[in-house]
Amino acid sequence: MAGPRPVRIDINYGMSFFDNKHLFELMLNPSAISGVPYGTAQAEVLNAEGLLKAKQVICSWPGYAVTPLIDFPGLARATGIANIHYKDEAQRFGLKSFKPLGGAYAVARLLMRTIATDTRKQEISIHDLLDGKYKEICAGITVTAATDGNHGRSVAWGARMFGCRCIIFINEAVSEQREHAIADLGAVVRRNPGSYDDAVRTARETAIHEGWHVVPDTSDGCIIEAPRNVTQGYALMAAESIEQLPYNTPPTHIFLQAGVGGMAAATCAQFWQHFGVDRPKTILVEPDGSACWFESLKRKEPVVIKGSLDSLMGGLACGEVSRLAWIILKPGANAAMKISDEAAADAMRLLAAAECGDAPLVAGESGVAGLAGFLAIAGDRAARGKVGLDSSSRVVLFGTEGATDPQAYAEIVGRKPEAIAV
Ligand SMILES: Cc1ncc(COP(=O)(O)O)c(C=O)c1O
Repeated sequence: MAGPRPVRIDINYGMSFFDNKHLFELMLNPSAISGVPYGTAQAEVLNAEGLLKAKQVICSWPGYAVTPLIDFPGLARATGIANIHYKDEAQRFGLKSFKPLGGAYAVARLLMRTIATDTRKQEISIHDLLDGKYKEICAGITVTAATDGNHGRSVAWGARMFGCRCIIFINEAVSEQREHAIADLGAVVRRNPGSYDDAVRTARETAIHEGWHVVPDTSDGCIIEAPRNVTQGYALMAAESIEQLPYNTPPTHIFLQAGVGGMAAATCAQFWQHFGVDRPKTILVEPDGSACWFESLKRKEPVVIKGSLDSLMGGLACGEVSRLAWIILKPGANAAMKISDEAAADAMRLLAAAECGDAPLVAGESGVAGLAGFLAIAGDRAARGKVGLDSSSRVVLFGTEGATDPQAYAEIVGRKPEAIAV
């Protein structure tokens, strides 16, 4: 049976506080399942035990703090829904994004596994690592990863915390500010021709050649352990948000920005495990030039997007879905949408200007994609109907980064991040 057909909708409904001009494309996922508990295939990727282990490790790091879940009553009123909660990751570990939860956690687990094998111990604790008990062994280990900015920063930060070497591959489009932010953490940064996906392959091949350990945030189906650890770490963000929700009823919708899909998979899985058959509808949001999730869900199998993939939303500019995330999001995502760079830029300006009377907030290009997707749907009568958004809807958004490139932020918003009152 043919699945629902994608539609292209011109936003023209209602809201006057932002320029409602952006085109977007919305598609219901033909493979989505509803009213079904979290499955065993999904539990092999992400489960309560994995989250518990991640929580024990991450909560022991210096500087760990639960990030705020912020209420947007003004925006909820303006968009005609019951409430909106926004998990603000702009201050996570001082690295300005949710990413340290994943990359640095995967570095910790990799070191714990490697040292246990080397020393023939059954288990190495995170406290042993933090206390420098195995610092000679750590100093001889090199970790590597590809990044469009935030994942590399997270891996480099983890490597510095635990005292191992770190080489990060960035692609052509990564800004100098993002490159410097990684190098400032002591990593060697190598610029690789081509896209993010090309850098992923270079990191993997160089690691094999040099005897390094690769810590990807995506899985091609062959490398499993490190990307699974990355996603287990991300699940902590979702778990925190569930604990912070002020009402007892589950949210109705979560809008999740997707690059390779690790963050969206972790969040979808966490809400699914917690709320079971009452889980919220999951809507994936991607840049229109690199919508690998949209196209893969449409064809019901992972497809590769080719071409430049360039987007203002650099963290989401990926052409290939993570095979681990696919196991969760193929049945778990209810819809997928493509948005333009301008829609993301407008969402950044909307948050900074606090036009609806909510607190002003700093959020980066990739971090606002979920909000931009929500705004696009909220402003279109047909799209609202399609995903069931109405006056009783309770939406949770994840602001996954702050001003990770302050110069780009100032160019887009017209003010420096520090000039936005928080
Ligand atoms: C700020 C931000 N949000 C969301 C994402 C998407 O995460 P994933 O690639 O796991 O889908 C990224 C990825 O780099 C990111 O940097």
